[in-house]
Amino acid sequence: MVVDNKATVTYVQLLKEDLVIIRLVPKDGPVPDFKAGQFITLGLPNPLDNGKIVRRAYSIASHPENKDYIELVIRWVRKPLPGRLTTQLFNLKEGDEILWLKPTGRALNINEELPNGEKDNRRIICIGGGTGLAPFVSFAQHFHDTGDKREIIVLQGASYVDELSYKDLLTSLEDESIEKGKDAWNFKYRASISRPQEWFNRSWGGQIGRVETFLRPRDNGLSPLEELVDDKITKDNTIFYVCGWQGTIDGVMDFLKPKGFVSEHEKREDGSFELKYESYG
Ligand SMILES: Cc1cc2nc3c(=O)[nH]c(=O)nc-3n(C[C@H](O)[C@H](O)[C@H](O)COP(=O)(O)OP(=O)(O)OC[C@H]3O[C@@H](n4cnc5c(N)ncnc54)[C@H](O)[C@@H]3O)c2cc1C
Ligand SMILES: NC(=O)c1ccc[n+]([C@@H]2O[C@H](COP(=O)([O-])OP(=O)(O)OC[C@H]3O[C@@H](n4cnc5c(N)ncnc54)[C@H](OP(=O)(O)O)[C@@H]3O)[C@@H](O)[C@H]2O)c1
Repeated sequence: MVVDNKATVTYVQLLKEDLVIIRLVPKDGPVPDFKAGQFITLGLPNPLDNGKIVRRAYSIASHPENKDYIELVIRWVRKPLPGRLTTQLFNLKEGDEILWLKPTGRALNINEELPNGEKDNRRIICIGGGTGLAPFVSFAQHFHDTGDKREIIVLQGASYVDELSYKDLLTSLEDESIEKGKDAWNFKYRASISRPQEWFNRSWGGQIGRVETFLRPRDNGLSPLEELVDDKITKDNTIFYVCGWQGTIDGVMDFLKPKGFVSEHEKREDGSFELKYESYG
C-alpha cells in the first residue's frame, strides 16, 4: 500500500491564471534527499471521487542542496476537461496540507561518467519547453552551489513572455558567470518565444520560434546555439538534456541525428550517448 507523506504549502506565486510556483515543506521530517532532474509525486483527495487520492508527478525546480523547501512550477490543465489534480492545486493556499511521495526518476539524472570511466566533462545544454524548464532550474542551482566547473547552457521555450518563469534567477546566474569568469562559473541562459506575432509578446526582442530553433543553422552554417557558445556543437563536446512535449524532443533530435547524436534510450553498444530526455507524454 502506498503511504503518503504530508507537507505544508508554504509559498504560492501565481505567475498567471494557469501557471504557479509553489513551495512545500514536509511536516514530519526534513526535505528529502533527491537528485537534480528528479520528480516528486503530489497527491490530494478528490472530492468528486469519494475522496480517492489523485497523485501526479512534478519535476523539482529547487536543487538538492536546498533543504528549506521543495519548489515546483505547475500548469493548470484546463482542456478538454479541468485536470483532476491541477484544478485542486490551483485552489491551495499557503498553510494548506498536501500529500507527497518521495522523489524519484532517472531520465534526467546528470551524467557524471563516460563509458571509459573518465569524468564526463562535456558541455551541458538543457532544453526546457514550458514547465519542462523545472529540472534545469534545479541543474543550474545545483551546479552553482556545488562549484561544478562544467559549461552549462539553459534554453527555455514558452508561448508567452510572462511564462518565462525563472528568467530573473537564470539571468542573475548568467550575470554572476560574466562577473566571475568562465573558469569559476560557466553558465548562460536564453529563451525563445514561440508566438512572437501575438500582441502580448510585442516587447520580445530575443530568439523566436519553438525552442528547438536554437539548433537550426543560419545562412553562415552556425546555429544560434553555436553562436552563443562560440563553438561547433559536436557529439564529442556536448551532451543535451531535454524536457517537454514529445514534439520538442523530436525537433531537437531532427537537428542532432544528422550530426551522429544518439539518445540514452538508443545508446550504442559501448554505452555511449549524447542526449537524455523526459517527455510530457
Ligand atoms: C515525470 C513527470 C514530470 C512532470 N512534471 C511536471 C511539472 O513540473 N509541471 C507540470 O505542470 N506538470 C508536470 N507533469 C504533468 C503532471 O504529472 C500531470 O500530468 C498534469 O499536472 C495534469 O494532471 P491533472 O490531474 O490536473 O490532469 P488529469 O486529470 O490527469 O488530465 C490529463 C488530461 O486528460 C484530460 N481529461 C481529464 N479528465 C478527462 C475525461 N474524463 N475525459 C477526457 N479527458 C479528460 C485533461 O483535460 C487533461 O488534458 C509531469 C509529468 C511527468 C510524468
Ligand atoms: N512529463 C513531464 O516531465 C512534464 C513536465 C512539465 C509539464 N508537463 C505537462 O505538460 C503540459 C504542458 O506543458 P506546458 O504548459 O509547460 O507547455 P506549453 O506552455 O503549452 O508549451 C511550451 C512550449 O512548447 C511548445 N509546444 C507545444 N506543443 C508542442 C509540440 N507538440 N511540439 C513541440 N513544441 C510544442 C509551445 O509552442 P506553441 O506556442 O507553438 O504552442 C511552447 O513554446 C502540462 O499539462 C504539464 O502538466 C509534463
